[in-house]
Amino acid sequence: MSIVVTGATGSLGRLVVEELLARVPASEIVALVRDKEKAAGLAARGVELRIADYSEPATLAGAFRAGDRVLLISGSEVGQRVPQHTAVIEAAKAAGVAQLAYTGVLGGPDADFALADEHRETERIVLESGLPYTFLRNGWYTENYTANLAPVLAHGAVLSNAGEGRVASAARADYAAAAAEVLTGEGHLGRAYELSGDVAWSFTEYAAEVAAASGKPIAYRPLTPEAHLAVLTDAGVPAPFAEILVDVDLAIARGRLAGTSGDLSRLIGRPTTPLSLSVREAVSASA
Ligand SMILES: NC(=O)c1ccc[n+]([C@@H]2O[C@H](COP(=O)([O-])OP(=O)(O)OC[C@H]3O[C@@H](n4cnc5c(N)ncnc54)[C@H](OP(=O)(O)O)[C@@H]3O)[C@@H](O)[C@H]2O)c1
Repeated sequence: MSIVVTGATGSLGRLVVEELLARVPASEIVALVRDKEKAAGLAARGVELRIADYSEPATLAGAFRAGDRVLLISGSEVGQRVPQHTAVIEAAKAAGVAQLAYTGVLGGPDADFALADEHRETERIVLESGLPYTFLRNGWYTENYTANLAPVLAHGAVLSNAGEGRVASAARADYAAAAAEVLTGEGHLGRAYELSGDVAWSFTEYAAEVAAASGKPIAYRPLTPEAHLAVLTDAGVPAPFAEILVDVDLAIARGRLAGTSGDLSRLIGRPTTPLSLSVREAVSASA
């Protein structure tokens, strides 16, 4: 029996593998990746590599073994993810894995924004498969914001069409620790966790955190959805992705990413990483 992490060369997957390495011997961990070269560092540390592409079902045939505990990290190709995830779920079912954990989105079946559609459908397919499952319904990564500080610092403004909506974000590392816990611990089968930060913040508060960390005046400028879409596309964001971002902000305005169930801090046994700390680290890294 192994613990298999898909998307192990991605930002979340790398952190999950680090968390696993701190808990179990490397020989028990498998990284399922599509690019062997990118995973060379993991192989050097004793992690077994299996090569497969979600888009090529034949490559998934040997990806899993009976009894494996599997983390399916959702794919990054929006619009392709239902057939991709279906192929992984079918391969896991055929192999007889002991657990399929899936990184979905906060709210699960109740998440009513475009980016959630493929997650909802994937959860449905997992349930239909009959596999022993754990749903990790991840809220927003704080890094969705802190990785894009350059324009905020350059213009002294945080732009959003989320109005006064709040985001209970957490650091990717927090979500990674939760994933490692459900893959190594007991009592997580048949459970759905609503994972999010302990504190939901507004964009006014986010701007204040960036101002405090950078020593620069930073203001929140709420925009209409139309104005935000224009800013994003003018900045070179492809229109379909800009529309998704605007739709996410509308979901934030409706409170869809503000839930603070406490599931994440309970699973990881510590408070989630505060916004102020993530912002301070990102500002120093950008200096
Ligand atoms: N909660 C949030 O705020 C949030 C934000 C962004 C994304 N997400 C979701 O969470 C997932 C993980 O986040 P992340 O930050 O780790 O994203 P990421 O860095 O883009 O990682 C995505 C991973 O999926 C792998 N992948 C994509 N398409 C694949 C395919 N066809 N076959 C096999 N592997 C494939 C990538 O492989 P390579 O390493 O070879 O590219 C990568 O390892 C994302 O994919 C997305 O579904 C959540």
